[in-house]
Amino acid sequence: MPNCTTLIRSVLVADGSGRSPEIADVALDHGRIVSIGNLRDWNAQNTFDGDGKVLAPGFIDVHTHDDTSVVRTPEMLPKLSQGVTTVVVGNCGISAAPVQLRGEPPDPMNLLGEAGAFRYPTFAAYVEAIAAARPAVNVAALVGHTALRSNHMDRLDRSATDAEIQAMRGQLQEALNHGAAGLSTGLAYLSAFSASTEEVMGLAEPLAAAGAIYTTHMRSETETILQAMDEAVRIGKHARVPVLISHLKCAGIANWGRSAEVLGWLDQARQSQSIGCDCYPYAAGSSTLDLRQVDERVKIQITWSKAHPEKAGQTLAQIAEAWGVQQIEAARRLQPAGAIYHSIAEDDMQAILRHPGTMIGSDGLPNDPLPHPRLWGTFPRVLGRYCREQHLFPLGEAVRKMTSLPAQQFGLVDRGWIREGYYADLVLFDPATVRDVATFDDPVRLSEGIEAVWVNGSLSYRNQTATHHRAGRFLPRKHLASRQ
Ligand code: ZN
Ligand code: CU
Repeated sequence: MPNCTTLIRSVLVADGSGRSPEIADVALDHGRIVSIGNLRDWNAQNTFDGDGKVLAPGFIDVHTHDDTSVVRTPEMLPKLSQGVTTVVVGNCGISAAPVQLRGEPPDPMNLLGEAGAFRYPTFAAYVEAIAAARPAVNVAALVGHTALRSNHMDRLDRSATDAEIQAMRGQLQEALNHGAAGLSTGLAYLSAFSASTEEVMGLAEPLAAAGAIYTTHMRSETETILQAMDEAVRIGKHARVPVLISHLKCAGIANWGRSAEVLGWLDQARQSQSIGCDCYPYAAGSSTLDLRQVDERVKIQITWSKAHPEKAGQTLAQIAEAWGVQQIEAARRLQPAGAIYHSIAEDDMQAILRHPGTMIGSDGLPNDPLPHPRLWGTFPRVLGRYCREQHLFPLGEAVRKMTSLPAQQFGLVDRGWIREGYYADLVLFDPATVRDVATFDDPVRLSEGIEAVWVNGSLSYRNQTATHHRAGRFLPRKHLASRQ
């Protein structure tokens, strides 16, 4: 009789291909999937009865700000509890490495933590820290453009000089040599808004040879979104690399209803170039409090404030009223601060979520005391609210968006599918009950219906609790992984 460590019997296998789930037995051994099929005569140390449950590849959260969390809180419960087995850190131009701070981290690097959290002057040091911390989930990492700017520039309200671009490129190259997935920008933020397109093009040049990618929180997600998409595409063309548009949305009331136009533009561009995007399944965004986004017609919840911590949890309208000032003045007084902006139309969000090129990224903010509920709810919300209840896509397609598509985009070797020989990153969930529980008023809540999660073959989450077998690893991008 063949032996294995773990056998999951008679389970609906959603293999990542997009096809409807089919019943099979799945055997795991030595961290890998060793057999799929009718395994009735197999022996196993641990057996799971799959009846009525779905087994999928572990979800890949392609858009996170977990850079310092994977080291400081390696249990990674917000993600593990959703069935996430890999996080991509370093998005939106901000990364924990390589960083040498002179003083406080500039906005929005402060989303990753206070100055003391930035301890990795090189990317290699960050990779070592992940190995030492042994997080519960795997980690792939981008290098942030804004992080590099802050390492080499005396001020961030201008474009970098040629010499500064060269210095940034040196650091990017070091990171690529150690397995970084690519470069991210956050051109909408004031810390990078003054960077010219040419600055980013120059910096992005080493990506192609490394097989890495370019991801961007675009210069605009409001009225000028098409110009911003055009800029992203031009940077990708110049550098000859795939482009991923981060948290694609039509933000701001003046921009509502434009998702068809934006997706049409994207489809057009996708005919000649590799372009993808990620999206979180909520009609509200969250970041630091940006004065340019204050609009009296939009509900803005304050999640934290350095100047007025007691105002966290209130809306900007309530705070402005209490102070007897305009919202813009209240926002100034709260700085630095964090906010949730209810500035997206549900229909637009759904159209983007449904698009076949769209992956799921939580964009969760783990250091926020009152985080946007996407931190704890994103993946079960896609499966429960948008797949089961609203029929936005079939289950197989929902799983594909969260597994094989991101594994392929980020060059994650032997992950993202249930296939013999692939790593046993797996999630077992109940398709009838899986749902997000976290809300805007009560955001730190475990999701329901996630029955078990395996990371590299280790059972890591079961019965709504982490098992404390932390088996995550740093995942170098494909080029490098295949050379090892
Ligand atoms: Zn962003
Ligand atoms: Cu982000």
